Amino acid sequence: MKPNLGVDIAGVHFKNPVIPASGVYGFGKEYESLYPISRLGGISCKGTTLYPREGNPPPRIAETPSGVLNSIGLQNPGIDYFIEHELSYLKDKDTAIIANIAGSTVEETVEAVRRLENTIVDMIELNISCPNVKEGGVAFGVSCDGAAGITRAVRRATTKPLMVKLSPNVTDITSIAKSVEAEGADAISLINTLLGMRIDINTRRPILRNNVGGLSGPAVFPIALRMVWQVANAVKIPVVGMGGIATWDDAVEMMMAGASAVQVGAILFSNPLAPIEIIDGIEKYMIDNDIKTIDKIVGTVKPWRG
Ligand code: SIN
Repeated sequence: MKPNLGVDIAGVHFKNPVIPASGVYGFGKEYESLYPISRLGGISCKGTTLYPREGNPPPRIAETPSGVLNSIGLQNPGIDYFIEHELSYLKDKDTAIIANIAGSTVEETVEAVRRLENTIVDMIELNISCPNVKEGGVAFGVSCDGAAGITRAVRRATTKPLMVKLSPNVTDITSIAKSVEAEGADAISLINTLLGMRIDINTRRPILRNNVGGLSGPAVFPIALRMVWQVANAVKIPVVGMGGIATWDDAVEMMMAGASAVQVGAILFSNPLAPIEIIDGIEKYMIDNDIKTIDKIVGTVKPWRG
C-alpha cells in the first residue's frame, strides 16, 4: 500500500508536504507545462500587497556560491489583480492555495487580507520578513512588539488560517515565534532570506542596485534547519520549514527537525522539477523504511543530550 503523505495544517489539507515557496513560483502558470500543478501539496503565491508594486531597479538578482541573492522589492500586481486573474486561474488546480501578503503599513496589510475573505484562498501567509523594501517588510518581523502588533491586527481581519513567515535576521527567533503564536497565528513558516551583499571588484559597486539583498539556496540550509528546530521546540502551532531545501533528503531532515511541511525555493531556478523529485523521494523513503504516514517523520530528530 502507498504511504500517506497528506498533512493537515490549521485545518487545511495538503495532499503532500511539498509547497513551492513564495516568490520563486509566481502564481504557477510558468510551471504548468512541466508537470500538473495538482501534484503539489500547495502553492505559496508571490508576495502580494494592497497596491501594485514595480519592485526595485535592476540588477536585483546575483548568483552566489550555492545560493542566490535577491532584492526584488515585492514586485506584484496588487491584491485586486491577484483575486481577479491569478486566483481565477488557480481555482481548479486541485492544490492548496496560500496567499503571501505583505504591506508597507499595518493598515495596508490588513486591507489586503480583508479583500481575500470571500475568496478561494485556503491560507494567508503573512510576510513580515521581506528584507528588500524600505517600509514594512522585515521591519515588522525583527522585534517581538512589531511581529505581535501586525499579527494581532491581521488576526482580527480574517477568519482564514493564518501562517506568519519569520525572518532569520534576528537574534532570538524563538521569542518572535512565541509572540506571533500568542497573537493567534495558526502556523509559522521560516526562514525568509538572510541579508547579504556582493561587490563587483572592477566597478567597486555592489552588484545589487539595492546594495543588499536576501540570500537563499542550499548555502543557507543548515541555518534554516537549526532555526526550524528551535522554533518547533518553542511553539505548539505547526511549523512549515524552508531555506535551501534542494533534495528529498533535505526535506526529510527539515521534517525531522520539526517541520510539518516544507517550502522549496531557490532550487527551482536551477531545477524546476525539484518539487516533484522531492515528493517522489519522500514517498520512496517512506516505503523503504515502512513509514505509513508522514507525521511519523515530523520532529523525530533525537538530539544528543549532555
Ligand atoms: C522580494 O520581493 O523582495 C522578496 C520577497 C521576500 O523576501 O519576502
